[in-house]
Amino acid sequence: MDCPTMTMSVSPLSCFCMFLLCYATVLNPVSAMQSCDFPAIFNFGDSNSDTGGLAAAFNWTNPPYGETFFHMPAGRFSDGRLIIDFIATSFGLPFLSAYLNSLGTNFTNGANFATSASTTTPPRSIIPVGEFSPFYLDAQYWQFTQFIYRSQIIKKTGGIYKNLMPELEDFPKALYTFDIGQNDLAQGFFGNMSIEEVNASVPDIVNRFSTNIKNIYKLGARMFWIHNTGPIGCLPYILATFPAAQMDSAGCARAYNEVAQYFNYMLKEAIVQLRKDLPLAPITYVDVYSVKYSLYTEPHKYGFEHPLVACCGYGGKYNFSSVGVCGDTVTVNGSQIFIGSCERPSVRVNWDGVHYTEAAAKFVFDKISTGEFSDPPVPLRMACHSKLD
Ligand SMILES: *[C@@H]1O[C@H](CO)[C@@H](O)[C@H](O)[C@H]1NC(C)=O
Ligand SMILES: *[C@@H]1O[C@H](CO)[C@@H](O)[C@H](O)[C@H]1NC(C)=O
Ligand SMILES: *[C@@H]1O[C@H](CO)[C@@H](O)[C@H](O)[C@H]1NC(C)=O
Ligand SMILES: *[C@@H]1O[C@H](CO)[C@@H](O)[C@H](O)[C@H]1NC(C)=O
Ligand SMILES: *[C@@H]1O[C@H](CO)[C@@H](O)[C@H](O)[C@H]1NC(C)=O
Ligand SMILES: *[C@@H]1O[C@H](CO)[C@@H](O)[C@H](O)[C@H]1NC(C)=O
Repeated sequence: MDCPTMTMSVSPLSCFCMFLLCYATVLNPVSAMQSCDFPAIFNFGDSNSDTGGLAAAFNWTNPPYGETFFHMPAGRFSDGRLIIDFIATSFGLPFLSAYLNSLGTNFTNGANFATSASTTTPPRSIIPVGEFSPFYLDAQYWQFTQFIYRSQIIKKTGGIYKNLMPELEDFPKALYTFDIGQNDLAQGFFGNMSIEEVNASVPDIVNRFSTNIKNIYKLGARMFWIHNTGPIGCLPYILATFPAAQMDSAGCARAYNEVAQYFNYMLKEAIVQLRKDLPLAPITYVDVYSVKYSLYTEPHKYGFEHPLVACCGYGGKYNFSSVGVCGDTVTVNGSQIFIGSCERPSVRVNWDGVHYTEAAAKFVFDKISTGEFSDPPVPLRMACHSKLD
């Protein structure tokens, strides 16, 4: 057990570690087939699961972001809910507050450390001068470290704070969810790296990911639900930027998707190793790639249309260009144009050229929550068990 605090005076963190020693014996052996009762979710990642972190740090999203579900911008890069929102709701938990949001947050049932544009490795260019979030995965881990400790100090001050912070004993019982990697690939593609060079950087990215999982485990996290990365080569921001790319039968940029597949292959291997290194931890690898990709190969079967075209964008074959992005007001040929939503986001896959619609997120959630796309094939509600026995 990696608790260095046993001989020190009792701090909230050491209580936490001692508690874990007891809890680990309860977790193991697994009580077969019982649905998990996660009191909290702690999420790490990028815009695929950012519920308001980047928006709080820099600038709140503009309309029409959020219009479908929240009827106003909600800090998410979507017209509505994200996969992580559907995950929280499925456990009867409220939507996760972004750790970086100083206004109206409630962390009783977890916290979200994800920020849009986050990478796993240190970002080479940072918003607002550059393009990526300063809160890369290591930074999210540092924030989580102080969150455990400071939330308990704040809780003790009582008053209104008492009911805004999680219980100490909820940390080892919580679900830890991850969706990150897409921006590491994007950083390479949009930087001056060849596809082969980006591909060659994958092992480093995955190593860094594994290190963070181990570090978060050392803080007491036990149950992990890890999404692989989606088919980046099907997104308008790739398709519009690299028009010379060779397309596959679904119209996606083949080589870009192959790098994503290699990332996923390495991630899956890394998780096999993590299960050996962290025997107490049920770790579920979730193949989000395959579910998202099916939206491009068989959109009509699932009730979607124009999967490769942004619903909210402007210009070109993919409704995505440098003229302006979703929510901007731009001047084109002397007239002002507001870049708003398409007519039916409920039948669309891509929202703004980079991110998925709520309808697509719901579709992906429905598929991945069954366990059919998980390794081991554990449904979401069983993700506290290491396998089905
Ligand atoms: C933030 O968003 C508002 C509303 O769209 C815009 O007017 C303002 O320029 C933005 N600020 C920054 C720093 O980007
Ligand atoms: C925060 O959430 C908890 C759990 O959902 C709830 O009991 C509590 O009342 C909330 N606190 C505030 C101030 O809304
Ligand atoms: C790529 O290289 C060009 C030419 O050397 C340079 O102007 C540009 O800033 C580079 N872009 C990035 C993202 O490094
Ligand atoms: C990426 O690297 C792996 C391992 O070397 C190789 O098998 C794969 O073909 C490469 N993919 C691309 C798109 O370069
Ligand atoms: C602006 O007007 C010209 C001439 O009518 C047209 O060819 C061009 O496509 C227009 N540009 C845009 C961005 O609509
Ligand atoms: C492209 O985006 C515009 C908003 O600028 C939207 O009105 C239009 O419906 C979109 N086109 C498609 C085909 O979705």
